Amino acid sequence: VNKGNGIKGLVDTGIGTVPHLYILPTDERLEPNMILPHESIPVIDVSDWDDPVVTQSICEAAGKWGFFQITNHGVPLGVLHAVKEAAHRFFGLPNEERNKYWAGNSPTDAVSLKTSFAPQQEAVLEWRDSLSFHCGPQDLESFPSWPPVCRDEVVKYMKSAEPVIRKLLEVLLKGLNVKDTAKGREDALMIAPMVYFNYYPRCPNPDLTSGVFPHSDISIITVLLQDDNGGFYVRATDCESWIHVPPVDGALVINMGDVLQIMSNDRYKSIEHRVVANGSKDRVSVPIFMNPRADAILGPLPEVLESGEQPLYKEVVYSDYFKYFFSKKHEGKKTMEFARI
Ligand code: SIN
Ligand code: FE2
Repeated sequence: VNKGNGIKGLVDTGIGTVPHLYILPTDERLEPNMILPHESIPVIDVSDWDDPVVTQSICEAAGKWGFFQITNHGVPLGVLHAVKEAAHRFFGLPNEERNKYWAGNSPTDAVSLKTSFAPQQEAVLEWRDSLSFHCGPQDLESFPSWPPVCRDEVVKYMKSAEPVIRKLLEVLLKGLNVKDTAKGREDALMIAPMVYFNYYPRCPNPDLTSGVFPHSDISIITVLLQDDNGGFYVRATDCESWIHVPPVDGALVINMGDVLQIMSNDRYKSIEHRVVANGSKDRVSVPIFMNPRADAILGPLPEVLESGEQPLYKEVVYSDYFKYFFSKKHEGKKTMEFARI
């Protein structure tokens, strides 16, 4: 696969049709009759984290939908806006500037550019380029070699979102009967945050392509900032249909990752989702993946199994789980089979 200048560079050459390599077989397209028009995931106002109605809604949504949106979370609108603008600036760089960060060639391992997801393994490519930032404390030492057009905005966004993520995790763990939700356990799990810029250039025929193929995240929890173009879909519970997640100004989309589904022995659900590019506008999204550290051992929490419930997952090391995810194309919930008993 020749990554060239990415899908962004290709679109900039002025293509009027979708190149063959990006055209989905008919049975993989998201047809209008597969979308439930009247369903939506909950939108939860989190201005008061101590309100039991709030914490209950969060845990319920995590169990039923695996997804919800939060508003009044405290991350300033200006910070959200600035990081989306920064993503547009990075992908607006001349090809040769942007190409400096290709995975494997980047001046730092903390920042890397990719096109599609796993091009070597994919018969059809995703209509997406992405830039990832490892944002752990050690990674920040390489800050001077991060792209100057966006690095301040990424770090600022990460720092302002972190307290919200901690709060969410505290609430979700409490919902599993975990008593010591405080520092100790969280720090052991959550020291490897990653921020992504996903860039989906306008597509001549979005119905024929996939921005991101259906997959579930391999994080503990993911915080997704989307723009106002829409195009983000979540699998409906217990059926094959999809639900659109409408952009809500200032909101963050939260989803449970595979790790939390494993830890909760399926009480919380890591749900499939997918993206369709836009026909006339360039779409960006900025997810934060809170991953466990590489050597973390995953498995159902003792608190969850206390009452004699059978574990549904065996113990796996996170780095193995991570490697398995990246060794294949995005393939629905396939990664979880790796840990299932
Ligand atoms: C993803 O789930 O990988 C991308 C989500 C998005 O771009 O909205
Ligand atoms: Fe995802």
